[in-house]
Amino acid sequence: MTMKSKTAKQKIKKPWGGRFAGGTDKAVEAFTESISFDKRLWKYDIEGSIAHAMMLGKQGIIPKKDSKLIIEGLASIASRIAEGRFVFRQELEDIHMNIETALIDEIGAAGGKLHTARSRNDQVALDLRLYLRDQVKGTLGLIEALKDALTGLAQNYKDIIMPGYTHMQRAQPVLLSHHLLAYAEMMDRDIGRLSESLKRINILPLGACALAGTGLPIDRKYVAELLGFDAVSSNSMDSVSDRDFVLEFLSNASILMMHLSRLSEEMVLWATEEFNFIELPDAFATGSSIMPQKKNPDVAELARGKTGRVYGNLMGMLTVMKALPLTYNRDLQEDKELLFDTVDTIKSVLGVITRMLPVVKFRTERLEKTAGEGFSTATDMAEYLVKKGMPFREAHGVVGRAVLYASKKGKMLEEIGLEEYRQFSGLFEADVFQVLSPRASVSAKKSLGGTAPEETARQMEKHKKVKKSKKSGPLYSPSGQNRPSKQNRAGRPSMSSGPDKP
Ligand code: ARG
Repeated sequence: MTMKSKTAKQKIKKPWGGRFAGGTDKAVEAFTESISFDKRLWKYDIEGSIAHAMMLGKQGIIPKKDSKLIIEGLASIASRIAEGRFVFRQELEDIHMNIETALIDEIGAAGGKLHTARSRNDQVALDLRLYLRDQVKGTLGLIEALKDALTGLAQNYKDIIMPGYTHMQRAQPVLLSHHLLAYAEMMDRDIGRLSESLKRINILPLGACALAGTGLPIDRKYVAELLGFDAVSSNSMDSVSDRDFVLEFLSNASILMMHLSRLSEEMVLWATEEFNFIELPDAFATGSSIMPQKKNPDVAELARGKTGRVYGNLMGMLTVMKALPLTYNRDLQEDKELLFDTVDTIKSVLGVITRMLPVVKFRTERLEKTAGEGFSTATDMAEYLVKKGMPFREAHGVVGRAVLYASKKGKMLEEIGLEEYRQFSGLFEADVFQVLSPRASVSAKKSLGGTAPEETARQMEKHKKVKKSKKSGPLYSPSGQNRPSKQNRAGRPSMSSGPDKP
């Protein structure tokens, strides 16, 4: 949208212009404006204003007919914005003053009553909370979808064995599905953290006014109910200067991105010639402008790289907040771009990884073959001796010597004869060979949460069940309001759905 002035010559009057004799320097207008980015809050700003106007009317602070006019005017502005017929003006600084000015233009003097018992300080805090409440719900849906993709992949490859790693060295055989479900656990924790945070986001700050509250008889609980908030903030000074809810979201987003980055890193490694565990579909790889043979995992690399900007946004916001005296300071305007960029980034990364996962092709033969290499079942051999009564530390030493012996001979553990093994311990018998295959190794790991097929299947079931029970959960519903207020049900014009950006 372009930011043209009203007409070439006509000066725009600023809503706060009364105590100013002179105009604002153009460079200052450009420096202090936030409309170029906070216009994406428009529908929340209007939703909040409608609730505020309803309350002003109900309390008799403004005449009911003016309240009605304001609500109609706001609804008409909402349609103009939604249809791209609204001109956002830089001279009017931000979304709040753009909409208020448009309202006065539209309905006249009654429009000037909307800002009664309200300040932009509590208004912007309200808009951000409404915005973030929606975004967290949307993000929860996207994480669920990614988790489904992971569980689907685990299901497809449920019996495939691969090498499990520690220190980036082959350690013990594991099921590929077990490895993939480890990420589903991470997604579960992300879902838990974000759902929890809704409790702290969903608190009404409006009514704090500039910082001290108001002498007018407002009804904050009524506004909270109209907007579907769980509670009303307790301290007006805290209400306008608090951005903990933004910081909490940026922290949760950083942890989420860390998980996605680890998954991406594994995709990058697995796609190398050296690992050769997966083949990336053409649609999710890119080529080199000079090397004709290249097929690069750029999607996973970018997902990993974008983690940096999300961490940066968290650090940026912590730094904005660190020395802010109470209460509102203009520094707080810096919260928005950091928050918006984080929302956009996690949404795009979640989306693209969710699309990519189901079409990643695992090289199952290679996975199974490498799972048995590198003496990966040595621990199983030690457990075999433990079952025959040998103390574990002693068994560790015996098997260590057997491994050294086999590696000097260039053989795998199953290629050493029983007689040779008996030089290391008399406890070895013919049945030792039954524990040495990767499949036997995996099947033996029946401990709770272990990699045995039945344990992995149990994990899979758990993820499916969590999904089912979430449907009726109190805090999280992927579509729509978590707690529709009476007014929503009665058909109050709600701005909660529709495009994020104008
Ligand atoms: N655009 C401002 C922000 O994003 C809105 C609040 C401005 N309040 C003020 N008193 N200057 O924080």
